[in-house]
Amino acid sequence: MSLLEVRDVSAGYAGEDVVHEISFEVAHGEAITIIGSNGAGKSTLFRAVVSMLDGTDITSMPTYQISRRGLAYVPAERHLFPQMTVHENLLLGAFPDKPDRDREDFVFQVFPRLAERRKQDAGTMSGGEQQMLAVARALMSQPKVLMLDEPTTGLAPRLAREAYEALGRLRDAGLTLVVAEQQVPLALELASRGYVLENGRIELSGTTDELADNPDVQRAYLGVA
Ligand SMILES: Nc1ncnc2c1ncn2[C@@H]1O[C@H](COP(=O)(O)OP(=O)(O)OP(=O)(O)O)[C@@H](O)[C@H]1O
Ligand SMILES: [Mg+2]
Repeated sequence: MSLLEVRDVSAGYAGEDVVHEISFEVAHGEAITIIGSNGAGKSTLFRAVVSMLDGTDITSMPTYQISRRGLAYVPAERHLFPQMTVHENLLLGAFPDKPDRDREDFVFQVFPRLAERRKQDAGTMSGGEQQMLAVARALMSQPKVLMLDEPTTGLAPRLAREAYEALGRLRDAGLTLVVAEQQVPLALELASRGYVLENGRIELSGTTDELADNPDVQRAYLGVA
């Protein structure tokens, strides 16, 4: 059964769609990826899905279904509060009426580096640490589904791998993940299924093994000549 099912979502700007009739679904405990290069429409799609679930309407009226709520979204820009500490940023991700030490302990366990730096201002953390903090803050709301838009943005290759290792731990702990990415090898390793977004349309989908074996995917996204 799908935990999140998106049907025929179209969205864009100034009345013009840049993503067209996108459908995808993710099952409970599954990790999926939406891969696509610059300008394919990944962020537009994510923002559209998130704003629909928030109840804010978007310009074109899509039909969609969601079986359950509880979605957290980490935008590529991260949107941390740089002059607030790690701990203060985390608290902002929790529901204000639900102070939750267990949850805090959980995220510090997933990201021990944040525990060491809980009193440091977020703006002085390294790029990789800020990425961890953005994910950790999203986890504070106890989401059922975590949507991440290009979690490797601005990270050197080693840190990008580390970020994906952390996502792998979350997947193994049973969290449902939807990851938009153009670092395709990492995303294909994390996820069990993927969708290829090109020019605002899903051109291909399948298991990540199938995608990794597909000559078009290899040429366009895996640097295979
Ligand atoms: N706020 C905006 N106003 C107008 N057009 C936009 C806006 N944001 C994105 N676009 C356009 O929509 C298209 C899809 O952009 P989008 O940011 O969704 O792509 P993306 O796949 O996330 O790319 P990237 O990998 O570079 O982040 C692009 O042509 C882009 O110029
Ligand atoms: Mg984007």
